[in-house]
Amino acid sequence: MDIVVNSPNVKYSENYIESNYEYLYTKAEKSGSKIEVTPITEHLVFRTNTKVPRVGVMLVGWGGNNGSTFTAAILANKEGLSWTTRRGVQKANWYGSLTQTSTVRLGNDVNIQLGKLLPTVHPDDLIIDGWDISSANLAESMERAQVLEPGLQQQLKPKMTLMKPRPSIYDQDFIAANQAARADNVIKGTKLEQVQQICKDIESFKKKTNVEKVIVLWTANTERFSDILEGVNDTYANLKLAISSNHPEISPSTLFAYAAISTNCTYINGSPQNTFVPAIIEMADKANVFIAGDDFKSGQTKIKSVLIDFLVSAGIKPTSIVSYNHLGNNDGKNLSAPKQFRSKEISKSNVVDDMVDSNEILYKPGEKPDHVVVIKYVPYVGDSKRALDEYTSEIMMGGINTIVVHNTCEDSLLATPIILDLIILAELCQRIQVKRQSDDDREYTSFHSVLSLLSYLCKAPLVPQGTPVVNALFKQRACIENVLKACIGLPPDSNMLLECKVP
Ligand code: NAI
Repeated sequence: MDIVVNSPNVKYSENYIESNYEYLYTKAEKSGSKIEVTPITEHLVFRTNTKVPRVGVMLVGWGGNNGSTFTAAILANKEGLSWTTRRGVQKANWYGSLTQTSTVRLGNDVNIQLGKLLPTVHPDDLIIDGWDISSANLAESMERAQVLEPGLQQQLKPKMTLMKPRPSIYDQDFIAANQAARADNVIKGTKLEQVQQICKDIESFKKKTNVEKVIVLWTANTERFSDILEGVNDTYANLKLAISSNHPEISPSTLFAYAAISTNCTYINGSPQNTFVPAIIEMADKANVFIAGDDFKSGQTKIKSVLIDFLVSAGIKPTSIVSYNHLGNNDGKNLSAPKQFRSKEISKSNVVDDMVDSNEILYKPGEKPDHVVVIKYVPYVGDSKRALDEYTSEIMMGGINTIVVHNTCEDSLLATPIILDLIILAELCQRIQVKRQSDDDREYTSFHSVLSLLSYLCKAPLVPQGTPVVNALFKQRACIENVLKACIGLPPDSNMLLECKVP
């Protein structure tokens, strides 16, 4: 269903929707005991190219649980597959996808699929390729993952057997030693030669499939954090030299990001490690290429960023958050090594900061709740991850409120729709441009190369330097919804419903 906006501020042409938009926000400054608050109106023009290109997706870690589940989901949905389970017949769907199965209120009681606010690429049309250090074909990977029902796997097998990951960059210094047995599909040579090979792979995929745009997404194992070293990965120029001199501190994921940006492809990091060293951020900025991450926000963190937001905004004071997980998939195996666990721990730990910092009535400056994250590897449970959280809060008059959440769920079935949304929204953002109405003769520009609009989908959102990190889930969602609405000239939903309240 197409949306037609009746407004003099919205212009439709063959290739564009142009929206003259009044962006209202507030500046506030503290001076002594006074707070000075100034409402600001910015007059912007959004221009969205409505021509959806042919989009290719290249997954790093294609043969993993997420990579194989994502591929299977694309095929199963495209072919409208169904299979029998002990609960009856199950049809392929995209439950859990913001763009495919969540809706946005337009007005009155009319709601629309979020991904239809603007023209977006249809999941059926995505063309997939990728790399893995394991040579297993995608049918073998799907079987190894033990995520999907056998009745579905059987139907997908013929097509997925033909899909084979490209050799990848393996550096045992960055992922857990327990992954070594998997690494039978690796690119040999120096770091420079490895980057050149990845660039060649991207170009050959483009040529072979005729895709107009490629998005590269890391869903490979979590790496340890890289050290940020002066003269090595601190600036773009230094990184270039460091790659040429085969410096050991340049991680495979940084090499992938480097190759993606060099070939003008958006790069998304679904794992917690610091792929985006300062040099990569500078490189993306100079090349005007989007980067986004870090770490898919799938289960426990999603709930945490809802619950803590609810508690703090209700005026209740969370004092201790203890999160325990156990899982038995290969991700869990990799995370059982201390350095890789540390990457995940960092990513999971900062997710309540914005909510805590927003309330000086409950928290003194610098005060934070105790926050502990534990992850254990229990092979038997496979991909079915258990997450147990205990939230202890102070309520009035010294009362204590304890909430305990126990979540059991296939990890990859939570992550797969997030991968889809990241790709669809990142691609859309490449077609959105903006300028100030007063800048008549200035060119439109894209969003900042650090695509913080995708924060909703990331555990540890990367944002442009000096700008606020938002972790609270519904604020992150509202950001996406409202920016898309702005592109078609609609105001944010204020939820005031004054049209129903004022006689
Ligand atoms: P997995 O272990 O099943 O898959 C990772 C794949 O990456 C494996 O096939 C492995 O062979 C491959 N690999 C490792 N290093 C590689 C390299 N340098 N180049 C190419 N391939 C490489 O893990 P899973 O469950 O698919 O998760 C993938 C990543 O997503 C992990 O880092 C995980 O922490 C992250 N993640 C997953 C979430 C979820 O599943 N709910 C949520 C948040 C993040």
